[in-house]
Amino acid sequence: MLALRALNIGRGDEVIVPSHTATATVAAVAMVGATPVFVDIEAGFYTLAVGAVEAACTERTKATIAVHLYGQAADLGNLTALAGRRGFRLIEDCAQATGAEYQGRKLGTVGDIGCFSFFPTKNLGAFGDGGAVVCRDPALAARIRSLRQYGWNENRVSLEPGMNSRLDELQAAILRVKLRHLDADNAERRRQAVSYLEALAGLPVENPAVRDAALHVYHLFVIRTSERDKLLQHLKLNGIVAGIHYAMPAHMMPAFIDGTRLPLTEQIVSEIISLPLYPGLDELSQAQVVSAVGNFFDMHAKQ
Ligand SMILES: Cc1ncc(COP(=O)(O)O)c(C=O)c1O
Repeated sequence: MLALRALNIGRGDEVIVPSHTATATVAAVAMVGATPVFVDIEAGFYTLAVGAVEAACTERTKATIAVHLYGQAADLGNLTALAGRRGFRLIEDCAQATGAEYQGRKLGTVGDIGCFSFFPTKNLGAFGDGGAVVCRDPALAARIRSLRQYGWNENRVSLEPGMNSRLDELQAAILRVKLRHLDADNAERRRQAVSYLEALAGLPVENPAVRDAALHVYHLFVIRTSERDKLLQHLKLNGIVAGIHYAMPAHMMPAFIDGTRLPLTEQIVSEIISLPLYPGLDELSQAQVVSAVGNFFDMHAKQ
């Protein structure tokens, strides 16, 4: 919301968003009074399909929010080129991608503004809620700092309506310590992902694609199979907790439903499953997950 407000985006403006994302991405657009325009994603990557973004552009398009879903960069090369051509702003939703990179640049520093979440489950998680916004433009940064504190100037005079979105001091203290471990934690996530990619290669599942020149930080390790519900149940019976991110696309939720149809987004929501991956997951536990997934498809092939 702060990023959108700082870019003067509000009523009458359109912001292009993926529907396959956490609802927070879309809610921010609606909460500033702008209209979210949903577009489909690229197969394998689960991030914005740039052709669909271009097709959705109108004279009201003020920004696109590129969500670096599951820890991988959206197609930033083509998105920045399109933003330049069509004259819209590019906001990066880096909630799931703290520490990830694209062509050697940290995500959040490529577009106009980058937004981060420090929710406890995130790659850099606090012990409660928190977040950050980054941008290069000092004037924009000053506006965001002011908006996050009632629109105050240095004399606590509100120049425009703002909110309280300060990062809590205790969370900040915890994050300062945890920040030192971020790169090592992300490297561990990548090691676990490589093990999964190798171990699952022969199975009838679609492994996550990895974008060229992107450093993935595997906030989630999401595979795709038409047998998703049965696999989920099988893993549960074996004591393995897998997740679904996300079960319902935002454009089908009562809050945002607008009649848009997104074929790939609507198809994958019944086929995706997030396997356990997090710093501290030991090799034996990961091997148990791999073997449970393998057993499932063995049993399935024999049926
Ligand atoms: C892609 C994405 N965007 C935005 C958010 C919102 O972050 P927060 O919960 O810190 O507001 C999240 C996490 O919940 C997310 O996963």
